[in-house]
Amino acid sequence: MPAISSSAPGKVILFGEHAVVYGRPAIAVPVTRVRAKAIVTANPKAEPGSVYIYAQAIGLDAEWRELPSDHPLAVTLQNTLQALGLSRLPACNLRISSNIPVASGLGSGAAVAVAIIRAISSFTGHPLSDDKVSAIAYETEKIHHGTPSGIDNSVVTYCRPIYYVRGHPIELLRVAQPFSLVIGNTGMTSPTVQTVGAVRRAWQANPDLLEPLFDKIGDIAKKARTYLDGGQIKSLGPLMNSNHQLLRELGLSCPELDRLVEAALEAGALGAKLSGGGVGGNMIALVTDDRAAIIANALQQSGATQTIYTEVKT
Ligand code: PMV
Repeated sequence: MPAISSSAPGKVILFGEHAVVYGRPAIAVPVTRVRAKAIVTANPKAEPGSVYIYAQAIGLDAEWRELPSDHPLAVTLQNTLQALGLSRLPACNLRISSNIPVASGLGSGAAVAVAIIRAISSFTGHPLSDDKVSAIAYETEKIHHGTPSGIDNSVVTYCRPIYYVRGHPIELLRVAQPFSLVIGNTGMTSPTVQTVGAVRRAWQANPDLLEPLFDKIGDIAKKARTYLDGGQIKSLGPLMNSNHQLLRELGLSCPELDRLVEAALEAGALGAKLSGGGVGGNMIALVTDDRAAIIANALQQSGATQTIYTEVKT
């Protein structure tokens, strides 16, 4: 049987992170320059049901049933098996690789899950639909995020810009005019489960303070959608800046993120904001192509450990 390979992109959240957990709309886009990949090969010598997992980046080399039952990879495999209506898989090796920075707001956990679900289900001869893939990846996201909104697994599965409202079917976004982002990594990992948990505690303690902030963020996402639809790319910049300020008010920025946001704006970005869970991880800058290299350089000078250029289109 030939090797079955599948990959899934990273992502950034353009508008609306955190507020999306509380029912407000958000916009996320795929980042196809970075990807997670899963390769499945038959292992006829092993006993049926055994799946050897190799994930060099995290030093993992194990039979999946040796993993703790709440390990994200074990949960992903278990739920895939269940969705396929199988009690066990044909014996196989599963190799996982990814160049998506981990725990940095770029959707690495969701991308790994989506790549695995697709590769394993294709290996059994029953590739799962996108809706099913996204639903299984959502279960894995619960381990990474605690109370995920579902935006990461959705954008990574469909690999298209999406407008997302929790509990509603995803809407693929029309981007009338392609545009470019430079992503800057603070180099500080920040598990989303922690920032999502911190916002939840703050909201429980003082809903009257946080609800209006979520409303303002949701309004920004709504407005951004109309600008994207109308090809008014420059108008997105001020919205990104406002969204960043609101995330700061929620305590989700940090000096390193603020420094990168300021550096991008000083170097000519049209707008900039943190992206994802915050308190570390990545920020994004909206750039014109003639300024992209200059802005990437300014980010590196201001402490970015990595910059990624990406084009956003429908
Ligand atoms: O995976 P991250 O760090 O990009 O976070 C996803 C966005 C949040 O709104 C913070 C959480 C969620 O589940 O929507």
